Amino acid sequence: MKGKEIFVIRGGNPLYGKVVVHGAKNAVLPMLAASVLTADKVSICDCPLISDVDDMVRVLETLGVTVERKGREISVSGSPKMTEIPSHLACAMRSSVFMLGALLSETGEVRLFAPGGCRIGARPLDIHFDGLTRLGAKVEYGEDFVQCTADKLKGADIVLKYPSVGATENLIMASVKARGTTRLIGAAREPEICSLVRLLRKMGADVSGEGTPVITVRGVDDLDGASCIPVTDRIVAGTVMAAVAVCGGRVEIVGGDADIMGAVISPFLTSHTFLVEHGGVIVFESDKMLLPTDVSTGPYPLFPTDMQAPFMACQCYACGLSSMRETVFEDRFAHVGELRKMGADIALAGNTAFVDGSRGMHGANLCASDLRGGAGLLVAALGADGESTLEGVRYIDRGYENIEEIFALLGGKIARQRT
Ligand code: EPZ
Repeated sequence: MKGKEIFVIRGGNPLYGKVVVHGAKNAVLPMLAASVLTADKVSICDCPLISDVDDMVRVLETLGVTVERKGREISVSGSPKMTEIPSHLACAMRSSVFMLGALLSETGEVRLFAPGGCRIGARPLDIHFDGLTRLGAKVEYGEDFVQCTADKLKGADIVLKYPSVGATENLIMASVKARGTTRLIGAAREPEICSLVRLLRKMGADVSGEGTPVITVRGVDDLDGASCIPVTDRIVAGTVMAAVAVCGGRVEIVGGDADIMGAVISPFLTSHTFLVEHGGVIVFESDKMLLPTDVSTGPYPLFPTDMQAPFMACQCYACGLSSMRETVFEDRFAHVGELRKMGADIALAGNTAFVDGSRGMHGANLCASDLRGGAGLLVAALGADGESTLEGVRYIDRGYENIEEIFALLGGKIARQRT
């Protein structure tokens, strides 16, 4: 099989129809990691069919547990027989980091090679390791790996210097069977963390405070099997909204959970977009008359950094000067250079992009270098005059399920081709 996959997109078509949003990637990945905390069967329903989930399944199988997949349901059983996450898998994606807490709790040791994932900043793991050390783990650094060992984890108060999503999830998973009580102070509050806690609670864990800055975990001896439905993917829903905003049209987003999408939705409301939510369906309509916005990303409940690129694509079509301030990752503007190829007028000053959308956008040959940046370029191309090509499809496939089919069914002109 030669050549690489690209998207060919012809912009300018309005989008009409219905989209079903499935389980959130960033909920399913830690939930899969949590499954090793018991040998009983843990089933996660409504999983998205994306490559990050495939890679996480490969990590679990490599560790020696049994994984069954039936459509969107993934069931995991058995105990891990290995404690090392192979470097080729760790490099594949960031979520291998989420095995740290659960694997250490279950086996007493983990060797993790330098995790991969989107190049959006240094993405250190100091908050993870400092927290595990507080729980009694010994952390040793090799040339390209970290070895964590612990005879028996002990509960402790842990102050997180930043509400890291992954560190919060790892430390919850490390403490559910620790001796005594753990309090995570300054914890992340993301809905995906609440989804993980719902699963852990169904498994018998004693966790409270999720969704607030202080999470309390009282260690229990054992956990049992359970099944759980993850929260739906607010970033996929938000990306669909961004595409409708730039293309015009009306789309029903089935599974869009307005209760957790407040910050995602709010900057859309500045413009002439029309939104109604009833019974787990978000109806989103746009007349393409987008007004400029000033947006700043931040930890939940603020505007999510994962929506930064898709929403910047909307700002490229707004009649006036917008700003986008990225406060979570220090290097998450790779898509700006690509948007400029389409005619976007974007000036960068530190962690803020100033976007003047009054010039209009035209098709161009684009290249994605990370998951959400790629999604933003796809949104921009759907709204542009003329044809675009988009390389780096593999990044987008990490977090979006058959994204070209979703938008083609809505009337977008987009096809996956092999060069
Ligand atoms: C999770 O990554 C998500 N990934 C990311 O989504 C998301 O962008 C991010 O949270 C923020 O919401 C998954 O859930 C699989 P962080 P994570 O730890 O846990 C710094 C996507 O596109 N930090 O909350 O890696 C870090 O450098 C992905 O779906 C430390 O300094 O993010 C960053 O600046 C991309 N030390 C900030 O905190 C640490 O030990 C937030 O990172 C850990 C993090």
